[in-house]
Amino acid sequence: MLSIRELTAGYGKLEILHQLSVDIQVNHMTTILGANGSGKSTLLKSIFGLTTITGGSITYNDREIIGISTENISKLGIAYVPQRENIFASMTVRENLALAVRKASRAEAALRIDRAFDLFPILTKRANQRTGLMSGGERQMVAIAMGWLMNPSLMLLDEPTAGLAPLVAKEVFETLYNLSQKGITLVIVEQNARTALRWCEDVCILREGTLVYQGRNDAFAEDDSLLHTYLGLLSIGKQ
Ligand SMILES: Nc1ncnc2c1ncn2[C@@H]1O[C@H](COP(=O)(O)OP(=O)(O)O)[C@@H](O)[C@H]1O
Ligand SMILES: [Mg+2]
Repeated sequence: MLSIRELTAGYGKLEILHQLSVDIQVNHMTTILGANGSGKSTLLKSIFGLTTITGGSITYNDREIIGISTENISKLGIAYVPQRENIFASMTVRENLALAVRKASRAEAALRIDRAFDLFPILTKRANQRTGLMSGGERQMVAIAMGWLMNPSLMLLDEPTAGLAPLVAKEVFETLYNLSQKGITLVIVEQNARTALRWCEDVCILREGTLVYQGRNDAFAEDDSLLHTYLGLLSIGKQ
């Protein structure tokens, strides 16, 4: 389990998350929702050791990870797929994937890249294409595949469907669901609440750097007023 207790974090002296506590269940798909600027990205970055943390604790499988370098956090099995600039546009799909396994032996790297192409078949045809020339959905698949190649037990994804057409967003979530079925725990920050609520069984909602709701997605299906209460229909889009 990923357990966050009274986390206070931000950037330098600027405090963004205020004593935020949340538990993320292993093998679940959890979505983090909330208005722009509510601290969703800051939460993911904090778990991955990329913010200034001034209080609280973050444990993964009972081990404190605050203060551990990003490199060592990834060695503990946590992968982070940032929202932007998550792949190299001037390099091909295969070259990007190779970067993710550069520390493995040549044989092991080749094997894992083959497995990545099995898991993300959409990339097979594009293996030798420069990612800068590909669609947003395809580029996102490359970013997710790179995260997966790090061999994680927990993946943190920041708005993996941002800017994608609904059908493409669905493909991304299908892919994430497949990873979840393989036993990977997923924490997914989303702008599109309706899509996220369809796929992710656990839901956290942030407001101004604090957690204002944690529950199951079923609750939203049963009670439409929850969406209004916590998100405001205007901010979640219609899909
Ligand atoms: N690198 C940064 N330096 C200073 N402030 C930042 C930085 N990144 C984000 N912020 C601020 O932190 C707050 C939360 O941002 P963020 O976590 O990106 O929100 P969200 O992902 O929910 O839109 C915002 O007020 C934003 O301006
Ligand atoms: Mg964000």
